[in-house]
Amino acid sequence: MSQRKPLIAANWKMYKTPAEATAFVQAFAPLVKGHTRDEIVLCPSFLSVANVVAAVQGTNLHVGGQNMLWQEEGAFTGETSAAMLHAAGCTHVILGHSERRQFFGETDETVNQKLHTALKHKLVPIVCVGELLAEREGGKTEEVLLRQTVKALANLTPEVSRAIVIAYEPVWAIGTGKTATAEMAAEAHLIIRSQVARSLGHEVANAMRILYGGSVKPDNASSLLNQPEIDGALVGGASLDPQSFAKIVNYTQS
Ligand code: 13P
Repeated sequence: MSQRKPLIAANWKMYKTPAEATAFVQAFAPLVKGHTRDEIVLCPSFLSVANVVAAVQGTNLHVGGQNMLWQEEGAFTGETSAAMLHAAGCTHVILGHSERRQFFGETDETVNQKLHTALKHKLVPIVCVGELLAEREGGKTEEVLLRQTVKALANLTPEVSRAIVIAYEPVWAIGTGKTATAEMAAEAHLIIRSQVARSLGHEVANAMRILYGGSVKPDNASSLLNQPEIDGALVGGASLDPQSFAKIVNYTQS
């Protein structure tokens, strides 16, 4: 068993109104009451953060943003800052999700800038990396993961990097029902962890949590999460329903 505390995060993407987000927490919190084995994080849309923060008071649940900008503040219409997330009660933030890379111009460089700002504001960054289907089929998975990891972690010191969480999300497995096998995920995690060691040293690499994301469901959670290299999950579709997400969080440990 590794010493790393698993982290299981719900990425609700652009789903749920504020009222639906509150209703989710009311149904979900009792299903995972007293659960301390894993850190549990809910990442609603910005508009629902306040509701979810209020609803998780007194529970074992944490709240995260799905994105942020790297600037402190300014004339950036439509954007949200790290300070705003922190002040609103978020403890975590997802950075560099593949949907942001694909549809909203996120690059390895902006992910790195955001990472620096998130750490400065004491948010736990969940940095997403992962290859496209064409890259996997073209034998480029390792190259892509190394590039994304090196660039995300540029110009950081080991001291400030301890809070970082990485999520390996193969793009071809997101929302498709196709999951990487536990072995494929573990292999990718080893590639990422070895690069973290080269960038930030072995101590940081050994302590860093690397999550798997991509069609995690109640029926495959246990086989994925029991891999020693997999330190938790970032869950999209199956996190929208309280029962289904609770089954994932309560996976059987073998
Ligand atoms: P799915 O679980 O819906 O495949 O989404 C994964 C994901 O993108 C989580 O960030």
